Amino acid sequence: MSLTDILQSRYSVRGFLPKPVPQDELNEIFTAAQRSASNCNVQPWQTLVVSGEKAKAVSNAMLAEIMGGKAPYPEFEWNVKYQDAHRTRQFGSANALYSAMDIAREDKAARNMAMGRNWQFFGAPHGIFFTMDKYLGIMGAVDLGIYAQTLSLLMKERGIDSCMQGALGQFPGPVKEMFNIPEERGILFGMSFGYEDPDHAANAARTEREDLGVNVRFEA
Ligand SMILES: Cc1cc2nc3c(=O)[nH]c(=O)nc-3n(C[C@H](O)[C@H](O)[C@H](O)COP(=O)(O)O)c2cc1C
Repeated sequence: MSLTDILQSRYSVRGFLPKPVPQDELNEIFTAAQRSASNCNVQPWQTLVVSGEKAKAVSNAMLAEIMGGKAPYPEFEWNVKYQDAHRTRQFGSANALYSAMDIAREDKAARNMAMGRNWQFFGAPHGIFFTMDKYLGIMGAVDLGIYAQTLSLLMKERGIDSCMQGALGQFPGPVKEMFNIPEERGILFGMSFGYEDPDHAANAARTEREDLGVNVRFEA
């Protein structure tokens, strides 16, 4: 598939088959992603990939915090209040997902249940935590975003789907403790990946994009 075809056909997948991606293939994908560009080639990504029993354990630990009523405590600035067109698009994406899952806007319990699936990696066999040294700030975040996008496209090329997740940076405590991530390093965001479950209702969600002129100016 060409890159253009991949971009035309991709969407965030939030329901996976339990089948894991073979380790050889993971090695190839993550090796290829090492070629990602970064500012001054600093390559700041410190990537934690969790699978199997360890994925289950960290998922349970994050869910225990959430069920215990703990408020999110991300290590980076994530609580931007979207305004105007950004807010409209934010609602559009939430609406696409909840309509696909047949969840009414006012059904808070069902929305919370759907939200909770973030910390179960949406049933995926693998989850990623994208971490970096905290002092890097916005420049590190740019590099990690580019790296994550590269990974997700390399995966899609091989028929492996994914969903990026800010949610995976919201309860960093159990992840950092379980995997000995030092205090000076933070979890920026995460991603679940694996093979799409075509029957999962969440995977019927589709989002729109603006016409080119809304986002891009060509000047000559
Ligand atoms: C940085 C980033 C964080 C995201 N965080 C979440 C998340 O926590 N949970 C979720 O379900 N989707 C998350 N998404 C997926 C977006 O909602 C999705 O990419 C957007 O609505 C566009 O839809 P599409 O990916 O299907 O084209 C995230 C995407 C990005 C790029």
